[in-house]
Amino acid sequence: MVDITARQRLKLLAGAAALMTSACGGASRSAPVTPDATTPPPPPPPPPPTSDFTLTDGLLRDTFRNNFSMGTAVTAEQINSNDLSARLAREQFNVVTPEYELKADQISPSEGVFNFGPADRVVDWALDNNMTVRGHALLWHEATPDYFYQGTPSQIRARLENYITTVMRHFAGRITVWDVVNEVTSVDIFNGDNGIGPDRRSRWFEATGGADYIDWAFLAARAADPSAQLFLSDYETENTFKMNWTMEIVRRLLQRGIPIDGVGHQFHLQLDTEASTALAAIDTVTNEFAGLVNHVTELDVNFYQNSGECWQSGTGCQPDIGPTPPPESLAAQARLLRDLFNGLVNRSTVESVNVWGVRDNDSWLNFAPVTRTNYPLLLNRAGEAKPALRAIIDQNYQI
Ligand code: XIL
Repeated sequence: MVDITARQRLKLLAGAAALMTSACGGASRSAPVTPDATTPPPPPPPPPPTSDFTLTDGLLRDTFRNNFSMGTAVTAEQINSNDLSARLAREQFNVVTPEYELKADQISPSEGVFNFGPADRVVDWALDNNMTVRGHALLWHEATPDYFYQGTPSQIRARLENYITTVMRHFAGRITVWDVVNEVTSVDIFNGDNGIGPDRRSRWFEATGGADYIDWAFLAARAADPSAQLFLSDYETENTFKMNWTMEIVRRLLQRGIPIDGVGHQFHLQLDTEASTALAAIDTVTNEFAGLVNHVTELDVNFYQNSGECWQSGTGCQPDIGPTPPPESLAAQARLLRDLFNGLVNRSTVESVNVWGVRDNDSWLNFAPVTRTNYPLLLNRAGEAKPALRAIIDQNYQI
């Protein structure tokens, strides 16, 4: 049983229900999260520029060039429409993750159908702009079409292997890093050794009768493209319980000789997250598994505290902040990210740090779990550097 302080326990309990559905929520589905007919209209156009700070080309990626690559999520729509975020992504980052184009329900919505068009567009655009690509994700229960679960475990395995092989071969040489499995750790993180164990009771688990599907996915991935770096990625690894379960899975994989190269930490953080908790997750991997690397895969900082009720039913959610983010929240975000980046640069196993979107308006957190104006990213809606960005690139910047 892991030891936690009373304060941590309170905080964990407050978030428990949210975790039970997935912190990435009932709202997580692979298709873009956008308002539906019942949600209010989108917020008004971006405010005019307010800052005289100029983000020169390459400043963000160059600041960390000797430490890790800096990535962001981009969509095919942004590229097609030459969106401001696509330009900023090209100027400031050197890694791209297609935000949903590589998920199974997008690539192969029905058996035998492979639709690579949108993903190809993002990948080729990234390569044309001298960026590398993180492939996200070969297996994620939130984005798995139903047909994947049909049949006996060995039929499910064969189908999964065929899917992984087809997709990885298609992108071989273009995508060098893959999240092979996403969010497979148990969300039952409060019962310690009395709980259900490390493996998430997802439909993958239920349909195959256990967690061997994780092994199958990694084995197929290594065989399909032996040069690709293979990751297991999950959210809330900054939580000790969740991290312990995740470590148990990684340990089991390594003991069985399953090929895995690194752990991805999504780091969907809150304004009151202590950077030290996230850094501890990195150290946990480094200290136990020599040779494994760490990636931060989906960094953002939510301006809302979501109760479990809000995640589950969309009720009891904090009201919309509106078009003006509270200065104290912008400052808290800047302090958290400065502390986090100052820790990340000192950790040599951290090879890649990726934020989940470019400008605040790009973020899934404007629509999940409910539609509200959110401010989770490094650039504001006008495309300007927020205090958080300035804080991480310049230690002299006063928050
Ligand atoms: C989200 C995307 O941002 C949305 O556009 C999509 O509709 C749903 O997925 N954890 C993950 C990401 O691993 O794939 C999720 O991305 C956010 C939570």
